[in-house]
Amino acid sequence: MTELYPVPGRVSSGSPSPIPDLPAYREAYARALDDPDGFWLSVARERVRWRREPTEGLAGDFHSVLESPLSWFGDGQLNVTETCLDQHLETRADKTAILWEADQPGQGRHITYAELHREVCRTANALHALGVEKGERVIIYMGMVPEAAIAMLACARLGAVHSVVFGGFSAEAVRDRVRDCGAQVVITQDEGRRGGRTIPLKSVVDQALEGERGVHKVLVFRHTGAEIAMAPGRDVWWHDVVPGAGDSHEPTVCGAEDPLFILYTSGSTGKPKGLVHTQGGYLTYTSYTHQVVFDLREDDVYACVADVGWITGHSYIVYGPLANGATTMMFESVPTWPDAGRYWDLVERYGITIFYTAPTAIRALAAQGDRFVLAYARSSLRVLGTVGEPINPDAWRWYHDVVGEGHCTVVDTWWQTETGGIAISPLAPVTPTKPGSATLPLPGIVPVLMESEDRILRGPGEGRLCLAQSWPGQARTVWGDHPRFVATYFTTYPGYYFTGDGSRRDRDGYYWITGRVDDVLNISGHRMGTAEFESALVSVDAVAEAGVVGFPHALKGQGVYAYIVLQHDQVASPELEQTLNAAVRAAIGAHAKVDLFQFVPGLPKTRSGKVMRRILRKVAEGQPEALGDVSTLADPSVVDAIVAGARKL
Ligand code: WTA
Repeated sequence: MTELYPVPGRVSSGSPSPIPDLPAYREAYARALDDPDGFWLSVARERVRWRREPTEGLAGDFHSVLESPLSWFGDGQLNVTETCLDQHLETRADKTAILWEADQPGQGRHITYAELHREVCRTANALHALGVEKGERVIIYMGMVPEAAIAMLACARLGAVHSVVFGGFSAEAVRDRVRDCGAQVVITQDEGRRGGRTIPLKSVVDQALEGERGVHKVLVFRHTGAEIAMAPGRDVWWHDVVPGAGDSHEPTVCGAEDPLFILYTSGSTGKPKGLVHTQGGYLTYTSYTHQVVFDLREDDVYACVADVGWITGHSYIVYGPLANGATTMMFESVPTWPDAGRYWDLVERYGITIFYTAPTAIRALAAQGDRFVLAYARSSLRVLGTVGEPINPDAWRWYHDVVGEGHCTVVDTWWQTETGGIAISPLAPVTPTKPGSATLPLPGIVPVLMESEDRILRGPGEGRLCLAQSWPGQARTVWGDHPRFVATYFTTYPGYYFTGDGSRRDRDGYYWITGRVDDVLNISGHRMGTAEFESALVSVDAVAEAGVVGFPHALKGQGVYAYIVLQHDQVASPELEQTLNAAVRAAIGAHAKVDLFQFVPGLPKTRSGKVMRRILRKVAEGQPEALGDVSTLADPSVVDAIVAGARKL
């Protein structure tokens, strides 16, 4: 486990990275630690086009977040689209900004910076005519078409706050988000496409908005041309209002701390929370990290194959790359359609130099054998990134040796919706890597491992991962519920931001993220709460109680294991399992599914009625011998039944 991969061979000169070597990294890290304000103000001034340059760095600290929310560059003013679009018109007008690959291989569009600027202006004008004003929330429920990014940027142009909802979420989930953020406008498309199938986006929106009075307008982009219902007075076709709108739009000047977007994400308890990212700090951080982690160069063809519905798509398909004037890919399809060679086909056809995906995709493709990779030329590749979950060393080595032919830097990037951008990661090609380790913190990121509530671990060891110092990309609050933000992240370890992850640190100071230590599941890199599953399951009449935990899954990273206590007159059956999964799909979305059901006589509870989740976890993980002390249970016989009936894939 201590093998150290040196800096790879395929490095050409001419990197504009501010961190070209390891001493420069050490120096930048020390500077950001000693003088965070000075460090980040200079990064912000350099990378962002301001209307008023900031003179203030950080205001607030992790002790007083409740009374005074964190603020970066508080006196700065900007519109983020001037950094992402207008500034490039001078030098990159004809450079491809968005390289769109449609579901159908080889189909797609190249959109230059000049074209993107024009489309964003037109869309901003159209949205304004529909009544969208600064500060208002707009829900975007779309697939991976360029118009999704255009819609995000058009909102930003107006100073409106977008909230992108991943196109797999159910009507119920869309409705919850519309209500929570008080959106008056929804942007969607007739249908999405993915892996040769269509996804009925507009009809999900219709269902979500049934009886909702708050939404005045739904803007609909026509993609597949399917027959869909249009509600008179409410629904407006994109092609009726956008192409004819004016080609220029004077951007709304925003404060650095005005919200840029809300992104809902799952936590340990209750409904997903709307994390709020703001304008100046987020843009500074995504631009900087995109440059230094991937060693971005002017002629790179950069492909992050995530979905804009997640934070990875926001930060590393849209905002970071466009701020840096990069050519960024939007990929509508899936890695296994029409076959498992799709990614490498993209690499060959477009000459992709930087490729960024998730461990779950790497594992699935590795399982298909090398021939799909070897069929395509991959000599253009220089940097290979992963994100979303711990990558097992075998998958890492396959990515490095087979996909990258040993010539590329693998950057295992650890971060979260909350961090806004990459926080612990190798910098390509600077940081020597180890398979399975996210390696070292970026400048401005100060990791601390907690052994117990008030004991910080020094040196090598394993603990709970906290960050000790704020960075500009940090989420500022939970929309409409600042106390929940503080309670979730800043109370477990007062004075620290608690990530919810566990991590090991080795003798070289390298971090090895071990996964969530709370009740958040990470299924194929998708973040979901056990509480969301449980509430969907108990909504079925036959169910009295449900306990949901994760278990190790060879392809998905984690699978979902549900313990079900039925009402006394009910019996388990395969049909009932289908009904239960239908309820999960309706409450959360198509990407949510229970893999294993176990019907049990009761859940293991303490005498005070608290479910002992540790027992549920250990049995699901196939380690019933490691249950530990069960003497505090109200009815220890429940455990015998659970152990005896344990399920396996
Ligand atoms: C996990 C995704 C190990 C982690 C950007 C984190 C990772 C959660 C890695 C955030 C990684 C992300 N190694 N674990 N490189 N990257 N995670 O909010 O558990 O969807 O807390 O953000 O994914 O998921 P989220």
